[in-house]
Amino acid sequence: MSASWSWFLIALIVLNLAGCVWLLWYTSRKRGGGLPTGETTGHVWDGDITEYNKPLPRWWINLFYLTIAFTIGYFVLYPGFGNVEGHLGWSQVAQHDAEKAAADRAFAERYSHFADKPLAEVAAAPEALAAGRNLFANHCAQCHGSDARGARGFPNLTDGHWQWGGDADTILATIRDGRIAGMPALAPAVGDDTTITAVATYVQKLGGLPVDSGLAAVGKAKFDVVCAACHTITGTGNPLLGAPNLTDDDWLYGNDLATIRAGILGGRHGQMPAFGPILGPDRTRLVAAYVYSLGPAD
Ligand code: HEC
Ligand code: HEC
Repeated sequence: MSASWSWFLIALIVLNLAGCVWLLWYTSRKRGGGLPTGETTGHVWDGDITEYNKPLPRWWINLFYLTIAFTIGYFVLYPGFGNVEGHLGWSQVAQHDAEKAAADRAFAERYSHFADKPLAEVAAAPEALAAGRNLFANHCAQCHGSDARGARGFPNLTDGHWQWGGDADTILATIRDGRIAGMPALAPAVGDDTTITAVATYVQKLGGLPVDSGLAAVGKAKFDVVCAACHTITGTGNPLLGAPNLTDDDWLYGNDLATIRAGILGGRHGQMPAFGPILGPDRTRLVAAYVYSLGPAD
């Protein structure tokens, strides 16, 4: 906070406190005339019931003074009075850092012996899997689903079909560094609308759907030129590029004509965020071991 903001806040606080003290003093003054002839508020009910304007009881007023004293004591000890740090040197950032450091130490004590074990071995330890499952629920389930079966655009991690590769080290790299799929918009390379439909029809054929074989043949000719570079001639994909296998029944986006055409027209750029920087190396390994344990063996 800049010095001028700090002074502005200090002035506000002092004015407020002084205002409170003045208000308490002003309203607790003795007013002339005791019962029954004292000053009234002027409110009248049912014709003759009126309300006296009397100061609050002394003990009640004193409670208010006590809260003001508490405020001053608080500002002496804790931050809050502009930029003044407070006598105890407490800050929420420092408290958070200390608690996090303690949690990290406890975590390291418990799990550091997994750090140099191969992932497959980690995945066989129930204790590590339980920790990995918790991490997954906290950090991954919102996209991949709590059962890791994914959704449209978010891959199923349990089916043994891997876009980027399913061996332990590749899974770890995917989670640690993230992935950005790069399928460009290819309509200009494919050609007119009919050819785009033909290519999409051929993709359906690769996936085992019954299609018009004449149209699919036209599509194949284009596919071999434009798409095979990434998806391979047989359509089985290339994990190095994250280009999915188009011949299985596992679809990230869908196998209807409109969805496949949309991918060709607009490209596809699925993005898996990098979790290494968020989780740190030990937790990343635990969650990777959990994911590894989900799929059928590679
Ligand atoms: C913001 C959403 C999001 C979150 C959170 C997320 N992912 Fe992903 N993840 C994706 C997307 C999208 C892809 C597919 C990327 C692509 O299209 O190539 C993906 C891909 C993957 C893959 C590769 C799958 C394959 O077939 O190769 C793995 C493994 C994975 N995620 C694991 C995780 C784990 C573990 C976590 C939690 C630490 C996580 N993800 C959190 C969105 C997310
Ligand atoms: C530069 C490499 C590259 C080229 C060329 C390419 N693709 Fe792709 N394709 C990818 C990648 C990477 C993905 C994954 C996109 C994602 O995860 O978001 C993908 C995804 C797809 C999907 C979605 C699969 C699913 O499971 O839903 C289809 C369908 C597809 N491509 C068809 C084609 C067709 C048809 C062509 C040719 C017109 C083509 N691709 C050309 C890289 C490529």
